[in-house]
Amino acid sequence: MIVTIDGPAGAGKSSIARQVADELGFEFLDTGAMYRAITLGAIRRQIEFDDIDGLIQYARLARLRWEECRVYLDDVDVTDDIRTPTVTAAIGRIADIAEIRSLLSMQQRKIAEGRDIVTEGRDQGSEVFPDAECKIFLTASPTERAIRRHQQLAEAGRHMAIEDVVAAQKRRDFEDENRPVGALRAADDAILLHSDGMSPDEVLRRAIEIIRATTETA
Ligand code: DC
Repeated sequence: MIVTIDGPAGAGKSSIARQVADELGFEFLDTGAMYRAITLGAIRRQIEFDDIDGLIQYARLARLRWEECRVYLDDVDVTDDIRTPTVTAAIGRIADIAEIRSLLSMQQRKIAEGRDIVTEGRDQGSEVFPDAECKIFLTASPTERAIRRHQQLAEAGRHMAIEDVVAAQKRRDFEDENRPVGALRAADDAILLHSDGMSPDEVLRRAIEIIRATTETA
């Protein structure tokens, strides 16, 4: 069974998807980490972002692997390095390339094959798993998302002015929503979960309720 959770940056998808997977005894796939890892690899290999063929070739060769919540790129643990602002700022260059999207989408389908899985990203319900049993679109207002992101960064010891968080979020929303392929959008049959004013636990409960209700009637 496949559950997709899509939504904009900072809506809390990762932590909710992870907890939902734990609670249901499903596997969890963070597809943003795949785009992040390819971006990091391209930066480390100094492939120019204008060299589309070079980027595609690199993405074809890169080996991604997960082990106990850690992400490995060519056997190197990159779990923390894929979350730096440098990587985040450059991801659009990779995520805009149709061939790389199609390659990663194929890998995502392969990972999900024969598994019960919660998969999280931007295009999981709309493009990658159109037949998923349950699709959730998790969102929150830009202000609430920015406040949460600001708090998360502070907790991780990375202090950033709230205005900078808002500006970066605006940029990423624009990129994610206007991507030529795989743009962020709710699938027609996705259920909207707007989390403003809800505690993380309330969001989790609501997500589980949606999944139970959808899969019972499926
Ligand atoms: O979920 P995240 O913030 O780690 O995702 C990082 C970027 O990766 C996001 O801004 C767009 C891209 N992405 C994508 O294009 N498609 C996905 N399924 C997941 C992420």
